[in-house]
Amino acid sequence: MAKPGLYLIGKSAEKYCRNLSEAFDIHIQSKISDVDGFLRKNGSEIMAIGTNGHDGVPANLYERCPNLKIISCYGAGYDGIDAKTAHEHGVVVTHTPDVLNDEVANTTLMLLLAASRDLINNHAHVRDGSWETKGHPGLTVSIAGKTVGIVGLGRIGLAIAAKLQAFDVDIVYHSRNARDDVDFDYYDDLVRMAEDCWALIIATPGGPSTNKLVDEPVMQALGSEGILINVARGSVVDEEALIRLLSEGRLGKAGLDVFANEPTVPKALREMNNVVLTPHIGSATVETRDAMGKLMVDNLTQFLETGDAVSPVPECRNE
Ligand code: 8YV
Repeated sequence: MAKPGLYLIGKSAEKYCRNLSEAFDIHIQSKISDVDGFLRKNGSEIMAIGTNGHDGVPANLYERCPNLKIISCYGAGYDGIDAKTAHEHGVVVTHTPDVLNDEVANTTLMLLLAASRDLINNHAHVRDGSWETKGHPGLTVSIAGKTVGIVGLGRIGLAIAAKLQAFDVDIVYHSRNARDDVDFDYYDDLVRMAEDCWALIIATPGGPSTNKLVDEPVMQALGSEGILINVARGSVVDEEALIRLLSEGRLGKAGLDVFANEPTVPKALREMNNVVLTPHIGSATVETRDAMGKLMVDNLTQFLETGDAVSPVPECRNE
């Protein structure tokens, strides 16, 4: 009997699915322009797709793949996949939550401390000999005793809050709804929260519901001494407004791991000296990415064996 077809989109999927060749007939997408041609020809053989939250899946997937049953996403974020439509077509979308919370929270703290203590400029001050020729750099301010707002208190937001508590800060948060399992103050108005915060950390999912949630009024309210940290998705921030406010000094600093049009980052942002920029490395350690890859594979193998996935996304849960 022919093995079900597994179509792998994006490099990340391929590395972790190599040993699935016993269970699946594996096809690897070479480049995005080949996807429609391959699916037009072979789509009826495809029962499973492995992808990630950025590459997602093609829009006309369901007409090309009438026998598709599962889309396994390598990553917690699945904003490149319309999970509601998948569910309507009887396809379960899975992702890799929880296994990366700690790492992304570590990255968040790294960016917040690097931005608040001016790490990049202080490193340059030593490296270019300025310490010797120009003396000691200016003072920065301590994180202790400050108010830090978390935008999106989900799994990753809670992991960030847990680590932040070691720094003697007052944590507040903004989410769609208040939680009844935390003691932090809830703000239903993000501008009001930004007015009261020293730093704002974005930890929401990407996608239409959070598109430019952090806009000019929010960043203006955070203000000229404020620090914005984004480890979520570039789409959550109005990036043009961010650049304008940072360059005019109306927003103090930013620590950014994600951007609106990755891997292209606006030159104006790259040239600023009041930012810390990293190339979407939130979960990018060997251990964490291996755990994500294992969970992505476990979803495929368990679904093949039992018809149930390990970690379906909320839109695909039969609750
Ligand atoms: C990875 C991420 O960059 O999990 C996510 O949503 O953004 C990161 O962990 C991505 O998933 C790997 O493709």
